[in-house]
Amino acid sequence: MTTHAAPLSNPHGSDAHAPEGHEQTVEERRDIRTAMAQERMAAVGIDEAGIERLVRRFYGKIMTDDLLGPIFGRIITDWEPHLRKMMDFWSSIALLTQRYDGRPMPVHIQLGLEPPHFERWLSLFRETAHELFPADGAEFLIGKAENIARSFQMGIQFFTVPKKP
Ligand code: HEM
Repeated sequence: MTTHAAPLSNPHGSDAHAPEGHEQTVEERRDIRTAMAQERMAAVGIDEAGIERLVRRFYGKIMTDDLLGPIFGRIITDWEPHLRKMMDFWSSIALLTQRYDGRPMPVHIQLGLEPPHFERWLSLFRETAHELFPADGAEFLIGKAENIARSFQMGIQFFTVPKKP
């Protein structure tokens, strides 16, 4: 079987972004990855403006949701900083901008969340993503959200001390 993949030892490979005859620094490689991610995301309709619309509309639904609204309401008094943080979070995930460098797991472990909370969160997220993005863009974001929700639930399971019978 023949393969046409560029050899891994070639740092430039077939990458159209790499300048000729120049050894890339870590920062340059990171910038190239970010630029490539942003091109891929633009092709499925995702950019900073879209992320802002997603975050605002999604948390607009969360705020008035009968199950999730009260959980957020107990913790968040000023929504704007939380919305900004979530825009940074999604920008880092989709556009590789590295604007979010928090650790969301401990926050969620402390909230006492159960599977129905995650089901509702994901169902509102899926609905909002499909309202705002073409199908392939929406599916990309939903896939990321599902993976993160799964890892939060595994963290919760791992750190929750079982109740005594
Ligand atoms: C049952 C579902 C969820 C609930 C009730 C929930 C609730 C919350 C609350 C109340 C906060 C604010 C904490 C604070 O400001 O102290 C928060 C922060 C956050 N949530 Fe969630 N969340 C849920 C699921 C998710 C999922 C699925 C994601 C990711 C896809 C996510 C990502 C984040 C991030 C990135 C933060 C910011 C953490 C930080 O302070 O750096 N959450 N969440």
